[in-house]
Amino acid sequence: MKIKETLLVNYEHTESELLKAAELLREGGLVIIPTETVYGLGCSAYSAEAAYNVFEAKGRPHDNPLIVHVSDPREAENFAFVTPLYEKLAKQFMPGPLTVILKKKDVIPNEVTAGGDTVGVRCPSHPLARKFISLAGVPVAAPSANLSGSPSPTTFRHCVNDMLGRVDAIIDGGACEIGLESTVVLLTGEDSLKILRPGAVDEDALSCVCSDVTVADGLKAGEKPLSPGMKYKHYAPRVPLVLLEGTRDEVAAFVKAEMQREHVFFICYDEDAPEFGDDAYPIGKRSDEAAHAQRLFAALRYVDELSDSDIRKIYTYLPEKGKTGLYPAIYNRLIRAADHTVIKL
Ligand code: TXA
Ligand code: MG
Repeated sequence: MKIKETLLVNYEHTESELLKAAELLREGGLVIIPTETVYGLGCSAYSAEAAYNVFEAKGRPHDNPLIVHVSDPREAENFAFVTPLYEKLAKQFMPGPLTVILKKKDVIPNEVTAGGDTVGVRCPSHPLARKFISLAGVPVAAPSANLSGSPSPTTFRHCVNDMLGRVDAIIDGGACEIGLESTVVLLTGEDSLKILRPGAVDEDALSCVCSDVTVADGLKAGEKPLSPGMKYKHYAPRVPLVLLEGTRDEVAAFVKAEMQREHVFFICYDEDAPEFGDDAYPIGKRSDEAAHAQRLFAALRYVDELSDSDIRKIYTYLPEKGKTGLYPAIYNRLIRAADHTVIKL
């Protein structure tokens, strides 16, 4: 891949810098934008070539479709067949962390949807994201802005680490507020939908708008995944992650014993952190699930970012599976980041 000169648009940006980045995107370039979930690696959703380049920049398999971002949910009808259920969901949850899969129109090239006839529509609530999309004047196709397989970026620095020289511009919008990717839903009937990826818009919230809400099982052996992204290893730090199932005391005792044996690292609650010194990353107070979600990817990236570290393993708690709130999403990301490695204490 040819090395690009990357325009870095700082948090304290000027209007003309934003316009410049929007112009780069409109003309076929790749621009990383902040959203309230994670940073996205954007391109014009109308350009087959730009979409191809997004896959190349990420090292992403070409069969995993991109989500298309709009500044207003009504813009979806320019490139997708909207339905009454979409309109109900949009009214309730957009702008916000929800992606709705609709049948696509021909203006969206196959490169964006990985050859499929559907397209994911998302209207982010981050004001800078919406402003940028408006300035660009085209819908913005964007996967998360990480190198394929690694944890999604939730800060400008994460994006620079992964993508400097691979994209035309990176816009700093601060730390992402939610920190986990959007809820992805497939509309399966006039009043039914399936959750393909859990996110901040939970099952209960969706049930208030739609009477039949189901959750995809994930990938069973031999089953064709509804969301192609579900079949890939994801979110994994380079140092292996292991989830510990047990009480807080059991987990702390286990990690202490392991620390005597070899150099390991602990992603833990704020309350536990002081006991573990430099080899711990506090992820928020025990009861603060919003903090856990917001800091999870930064925590997973932290150990990989330590230079010349000889850390052999990262431990953290197996979170509750939960049905509501952020826990289904946290569980989903962690279990995959750990490649299902769980130790029952
Ligand atoms: O919060 C988010 O959704 C972030 C920000 C940047 O908006 N984007 C994001 O994109 O997470 P990505 O590409 O990393 O994940 C999109 C997921 C993938 O698992 C993909 O397979 C699924 O959504 N997806 C996208 N379009 C789809 C479609 N037409 N049908 C089924 N699944 C789809
Ligand atoms: Mg992703």
